Amino acid sequence: MTSGATTTQTIGFEIARYLPGEDRAPTLRHYDVPYRPEWVVLDALNYLKDEVDGTLSFRWSCRMGVCGSCGAMVNGVPRLMCAAFLRDYLPGPIRVEPLANFPIERDLVIVLDDFMQKLRAVKPWIIPGDRPPPADAEYRQTPAQLADFKQYSMCINCLLCYSACPVYQHEEEFLGPAVLALAQRYDHDSRDRGNSQRHELTWSDEGIWDCTFVGECSAVCPKHVDPAGAIQQAKVESTMDWYRSVLWPFGRR
Ligand code: FES
Repeated sequence: MTSGATTTQTIGFEIARYLPGEDRAPTLRHYDVPYRPEWVVLDALNYLKDEVDGTLSFRWSCRMGVCGSCGAMVNGVPRLMCAAFLRDYLPGPIRVEPLANFPIERDLVIVLDDFMQKLRAVKPWIIPGDRPPPADAEYRQTPAQLADFKQYSMCINCLLCYSACPVYQHEEEFLGPAVLALAQRYDHDSRDRGNSQRHELTWSDEGIWDCTFVGECSAVCPKHVDPAGAIQQAKVESTMDWYRSVLWPFGRR
């Protein structure tokens, strides 16, 4: 098969199917899908759901790499299905499984509870403290202040980084790459005064100090966020804070 293949040609898929209460474990089921070079894996799954098997379950919404809901293992690598072109997997077959390191709800749908609970715990929103709001009701930032956190704000919570992280695979308590990068995003926001509320958790053993800097989280991120870098940056800040507390125990900083 070539990239010039016509629509009469097909490409094979091995898709994980799992129905709780009926199946003891996920199994791979084979499907043939019309090959179209402009199609992505998500298009092929929607074809199967519409034309072949309406019970196939998977999440998606935007089809443009924004909502973060279509993550899956594609040939063993965490990918957004809406950004994985069939032409890059010729001649197939393409294996599609749920994101690794998460319980499975059904087929390719994972259980998000652990991530959502950890996300809420680090308070990923601006905590203004007791400063009165500016008279004109706007908190202005310089370009440099924005650049300090902007990269971390690009996260779409797709969880590809959790799927790639060997620490999260073995340490259930680990807060994980996206949550720690988002905490860093707000810690570095000049409008925020909530650092001390976050650090009790993010600077703990289950937070930044569990990370062994493998870096796979940053390698798989579809939005080019660098969670591994965010965590190492936070380690430096935590260490500096500890030294300051030793050198100036009465609060002089
Ligand atoms: S469908 Fe929204 S990121 Fe893929």
